[in-house]
Parts: sequence; C-alpha cells; structure tokens
Amino acid sequence: MTQPLDPVAKLLRVTRRLPPAVEARAARDYDARLNPEDTPSSPDSLIEAAAGADGVLCCPADRFDAATIAALPASVAILATFSVGTDHIDLAAAAARGLVVTNTPGVLTDATAELALLLMLAAARRAGEGERMVRTPAGQDGAWTGWAPTQLLGLQLSGKNLAILGMGRIGRAVAARARAFGMTVHYSNRRRLPPELEAGAIFHADPDEMLGAADVLSLHSPATPETHHWLNDARIARLPTHAVVVNTARGTLIDDEALIAALRRGRIRAAGLDVFENEPALHPGYRELANAILLPHLGSATEETRNAMGFKALDNLDAFFAGAAPPDRVV
Ligand code: DGY
Repeated sequence: MTQPLDPVAKLLRVTRRLPPAVEARAARDYDARLNPEDTPSSPDSLIEAAAGADGVLCCPADRFDAATIAALPASVAILATFSVGTDHIDLAAAAARGLVVTNTPGVLTDATAELALLLMLAAARRAGEGERMVRTPAGQDGAWTGWAPTQLLGLQLSGKNLAILGMGRIGRAVAARARAFGMTVHYSNRRRLPPELEAGAIFHADPDEMLGAADVLSLHSPATPETHHWLNDARIARLPTHAVVVNTARGTLIDDEALIAALRRGRIRAAGLDVFENEPALHPGYRELANAILLPHLGSATEETRNAMGFKALDNLDAFFAGAAPPDRVV
C-alpha cells in the first residue's frame, strides 16, 4: 500500500465493487462512495451517482457517451477507468468538457496473454466439446463412452503459424508464449517493431496478406473506427479452412454475422472468444456453435492483475488531486 494522502478528502465515486485491497485504499484516501452490491450502471445512474463527486473511478461496462459526459455534474474533474481500453468513454467529448481521463496500461499484459493462450488451446483442442461430453450423464446423447482413436481430434499448435493483429504489449506477450509451444509468429502492426521487440516474428505491412498463413489468428488491436468489424467475410475467406480465431481484444473487431456463418458451415475450424460486441448481449448465434469457446470477458480477471489495475487507477487519481500529471492520462 502507498502512504495515505493528506489532502482534503475528495469525494470519489466508485462505480463497481473492486478487489478488497483496492477499496480499502480508496476508502483510506478518499471520501469513497463504493458500490458494495456491485449494481451495474446505466447512463442515468452514472450521472446520479456522480452528484457532488470530484472524481469517478469507472469500469469498462460503464458507458460514458457524449450525452452522459455532458450531463455529469460540473464537480467531476477526472474519470479514472479501471481498464486499459477506453472505448466505453467518448474521449472527444471528455476533452471538449475538460474532463481528464486515465487508464491502466501495462498491468494486464500477462493475464490477457495467458487467457489468449487458454482460448487458443481450448478452441484448437476442442476442450469445450470434451468438457460437455464428460459432464453428460452416461446413457444420454453425447455422453462419453470411453477413449476412441478418432474422438474429438483437434489442431496441434506445434509447428503452426500464429498471426497476430496488433503487436503491442499483449500481442508480444502472446507471441512469446506461442513460441514456447513451437509456433512461428507472424504479425501486422501499424509500424514494424525493432528487431529486439520483433524477436524473429515475421512482419506483414498488409494484414490481409498475413491471413493466408494463419493457422491461428489472434486479435490484439484496440477498438477504433478503423478496426470496426475488421474480421469480416472477405478476410475470413483468406484464412485456411483449419484456422482458429482468438479474440481477447474487443468484440467490435469482429463482424459477428460473418464469423458465425463461417463457424457454422465449417469454413474455419473454431474460435475462442473472450469479448463480444454489445456485451453482455452477445450475438445469440454463438451459443449454438460447438466449435466456439466463449468466456465472459475474463482477460484481466486474476487477483494479481485486478489489484494492480485498481492501484494504478488510484495512482492516477492521487497524482491528479495532488496537482501532478497523472501517469496514465489519456486526455
Ligand atoms: C481492459 O482493461 O480494457 C480489459 O478489457 C478489462 O479486462
């Protein structure tokens, strides 16, 4: 824990329940208004909850669109989001209102990379189907009847190509782990990385050109207008038919209709998805697909990482209220 702050206690609205050590520090240093019931927010409830607050510690499920930002009480000077992603906040509207926004980069890298590998393995090796088979009571359709030479054959990762879209911290951490599985890494990024960060990965200036080589495609780009529905029909058509798609970045990178159709007709082998457009109201088509592994946005969900995210959000708030530059200021 850091040393207690000594300013006049600022009123901090915390929109969701946070790990106990993070809430303890918030309560020690601020007039912290917590959400012990962990009630999800709506735009109206965010505005109401922010009444009298100096700052808001928010989460990715809180949507701060332009109208919500415009309606925030004038007292609110900073939004510290408990996330590295900022696509839930209209940054242009925040900048126009003079609202400072901070995020939590750097501390989610390992947890998110681990989850990408989990999805990659689970989708390639049909872990969801296997798990359901074992859970089905004997005698029922789909129940496990014992070992069989052709049962649930999957795709082996060793010797395969992993194509990474977005070679930032998380993309590179996924690449390092994939190398340990004997995969060859290809990547596409706005800029080519220097050799020490590239670590032998094969750069593709044109991401479309990398898709033909992708036994596994893992998405690690932020949600921007340029990446909206990036994985569409045309790009899926470039993938090999045995390809596995993994997304731990943002759901909006994928055109759901296109991916669901491709998975349904076996145009690609499988997908492992941790993020969805319009979470938690994911496209219902995914639920019917045996070849899709679906997780509820767990990328950063380890105790270590969620503590680190909370402490980083508080570090940003502390700096701001002490009159210093918040280390992770976005606008
Ligand atoms: C983030 O920080 O943007 C993550 O998606 C939360 O897990």
